[in-house]
Amino acid sequence: MSDLRHLMSPMDFTVEELERMFDVAVDIENNMEAYSHKCDGKIMATCFYEPSTRTRLSFETAMLRLGGKVIGFADANSSSAAKGESVSDTIRVISCFADICAMRHPKEGAPMVAASKSLIPVINAGDGGHQHPTQTLTDLLTIRSLQGSLSNFTIGLCGDLKFGRTVHSLINALVRYENIKFIFISPPELRVPDYITEMLQIRGIEYKEVIKLEDVMPELDLLYMTRVQKERFFNEEDYIRLRNFYILDKAKMEKAKPTMHVLHPLPRVNEISVDVDDDERAAYFKQVQYGLYVRMALILTLLDMTDDHVNEGLLKKY
Ligand code: CP
Repeated sequence: MSDLRHLMSPMDFTVEELERMFDVAVDIENNMEAYSHKCDGKIMATCFYEPSTRTRLSFETAMLRLGGKVIGFADANSSSAAKGESVSDTIRVISCFADICAMRHPKEGAPMVAASKSLIPVINAGDGGHQHPTQTLTDLLTIRSLQGSLSNFTIGLCGDLKFGRTVHSLINALVRYENIKFIFISPPELRVPDYITEMLQIRGIEYKEVIKLEDVMPELDLLYMTRVQKERFFNEEDYIRLRNFYILDKAKMEKAKPTMHVLHPLPRVNEISVDVDDDERAAYFKQVQYGLYVRMALILTLLDMTDDHVNEGLLKKY
């Protein structure tokens, strides 16, 4: 079992391993049919203790597109968690049925507990306000595809930077690349956590914190919008006060560079006006598509099935 690999954080893979996974994802994008039987006979379990549209359906589509099959639950109340079964016991049971498991859980660290007891690879599909590594893989592949590289740009992260796990994972992943400047745009109550700004200071990485989105729009190469996370607020009043703090609209887009791209992990609530969707710089639905390719590449990587399956060109490259 010593070779068993899980994905708990984007940092579980080196930059070189990620590059290789992204190359496989791009190959999948261009040669989808060539991958359609790579996981024949394999089963993925999706264990979602918290709601999801993209992540769960993207994993399930990824396994189906690879020729595998899918089992799982989308609601903890329809599983034996409702009877008090622990995550540790659940994963030991799932290990008897499936070859790989994607797990989302409202409690930080729950997928890690599962991984420690699992006999199959476990993928953290989001744990509380902590990490969302496959969203980060999606974001990195999207940025690499749009910008041509994962270095040398200014990224604005806007909205709920306190509870947004996608933001925390993405910052942790981006600090490993060259010459990236961070601009954090949030109300004071939803500032990025101190442990992140302290980490940036220690690493000597440039960042600033601002409240007004309009003021920094012209500086940005990428704008990563996020939703205010209703489910993580302790009181309704604060949520209602902050939920519409930022609304990206056509007028604000006019202040941005013609080459700036807008990303969003989705779901969107009000923070991006629908009239921005037609702007060619709006890349959030493309981002969903990249999420499928990178999850297919991740499944192949964790099942150790890439080398004999990637096309000849990729094999030559490594
Ligand atoms: N981006 C994301 O995690 O979306 P879902 O909550 O719909 O999975």
